Amino acid sequence: MSNKDSIGRTITVALILCIVCSVVVSTAAVLLRPMQIENKELDRKLNILAVADIQTDGSSASIDAAFSQIQTRLVDLSTGQFVDDVDPDIFDARKAVSEEGKSVELDPLDDTASIRRIPKLQKVYLIEQNGNLDKVIVPVSGYGLWSTMFGYIALEGDLNTIAGLTFYEHAETPGLGGEISNPKWKAKWVGKQIYDQVGSTPEIEVIKGEVTSTTPNAQFKVDGLSGATLTSNGVTNLMQFWFGDLGFAPMLSELKKQEA
Ligand SMILES: Cc1cc2nc3c(=O)[nH]c(=O)nc-3n(C[C@H](O)[C@H](O)[C@H](O)COP(=O)(O)O)c2cc1C
Repeated sequence: MSNKDSIGRTITVALILCIVCSVVVSTAAVLLRPMQIENKELDRKLNILAVADIQTDGSSASIDAAFSQIQTRLVDLSTGQFVDDVDPDIFDARKAVSEEGKSVELDPLDDTASIRRIPKLQKVYLIEQNGNLDKVIVPVSGYGLWSTMFGYIALEGDLNTIAGLTFYEHAETPGLGGEISNPKWKAKWVGKQIYDQVGSTPEIEVIKGEVTSTTPNAQFKVDGLSGATLTSNGVTNLMQFWFGDLGFAPMLSELKKQEA
């Protein structure tokens, strides 16, 4: 056996290769991290703009320019009041949920969306036009069949009519529960009403089957996803939770008072 094929030499070459590869991978991970954070932030803005039906050309400059017309506010969910002593740009609701002092554990009887904890503060987005509230966009989350579904709901300035809905993260089955991301299904939400009267229990629900001209109270109902009743029920549950008293109902009542 030549010296080149010795076991010691093979191990040395393998070790050097391992070290070189791990240095390359960790350097790439560190260098790409700021880019990943920036892309995630752009994606968040793009989802919010899309749900509010504000168009961009997809470039970061156009997304930032369009987003500048949106005010980001933090709301104390229990009082419905806006909070100004925390910077909304550095607040992360998903992080807050894992911190005892920044979140609340839900009583299982109240936890209709199966999320266990909610943050005390939540980020919301306001769009004004000529000094009047034009749209409010709120984040929502709730369990479907396989996963927690995260999305945004845009409300018109009447604080009751749905202007848009989107789910940006979930792991429901493509073609079944995954149809919550289908633009055709999302379009069915536009114009639907959440409450009979703001401050009351949310009426909005995803039904089994289709909403037709003869469906009673059709303004509160959206077509179910066929073969995906469990995901559909999850969407109903999250809407009812987030527009209920533990979610955004106190904030919507406060905004309604200010608008009156
Ligand atoms: C592999 C597989 C994946 C499924 N994924 C979903 C899903 O993502 N969401 C859902 O509600 N149901 C899903 N289902 C179906 C549910 O088990 C259940 O049958 C369905 O929600 C009932 O809805 P239906 O009454 O509209 O048929 C899946 C079933 C199978 C076998």
